[in-house]
Amino acid sequence: MLLAIPDLLSPEELSRVRATLEAADWADGRLTAGTQSAAVKHNLQLPEDGQAARSARAIVLGALDRSALFFSAALPRRVFPPLFNRYEGGMRFGNHVDNAIRTHAASGARLRTDLSATLFLADPESYDGGELVIDDTYGAHTVKLPAGHLVLYPSTSLHRVEPVTRGTRLACVFWLESLVREDAQRALLFDLDAAIGSLRQAHGESAPVVSLTGIYHNLLRRWAQA
Ligand code: NI
Repeated sequence: MLLAIPDLLSPEELSRVRATLEAADWADGRLTAGTQSAAVKHNLQLPEDGQAARSARAIVLGALDRSALFFSAALPRRVFPPLFNRYEGGMRFGNHVDNAIRTHAASGARLRTDLSATLFLADPESYDGGELVIDDTYGAHTVKLPAGHLVLYPSTSLHRVEPVTRGTRLACVFWLESLVREDAQRALLFDLDAAIGSLRQAHGESAPVVSLTGIYHNLLRRWAQA
């Protein structure tokens, strides 16, 4: 499932993140790439342990925490500390699949990457190129979202970032391990949760809503690895 989450960041949070990134020093993005990705990755990345990354990361994690849509779609078990990257002057990231397992250098914590996420931080009109292109069984999807919007997609997907030919593309990327490993099961739970939400809005806590909520939790209990 490929899902856009609009306005994850408030305008105020977005400007704080941008101000932090503008004042920061950047490093070569290949520092966190695996062998195959290092050959195709051409971008700049904020050093993971620097103050700038820490403060921008806290803002993003806070925004994820309060997003009911993100929680429902991702059912996050562990979230890798978000990274920040920058593409300009023809920089690109060629086709690759994200590493299956990521180890956080500072803490040694490990997670399986079930979902990949990109949070767009630059206004789409301010740069040319830089589309995130994600291949799935339905074909190639081109994603270039307004600043502050997030896209979530299965980490099993082949994807790339097209060359940035004008301006600067700023983004935050991260991976997460989900309570529900299988994309198809997670997608069913997401659809069921949304349908229950609509029914609850229309009819309140009626008996069928209570029953469906029970079914949601009993499916989650079957499929979750907590
Ligand atoms: Ni990637």
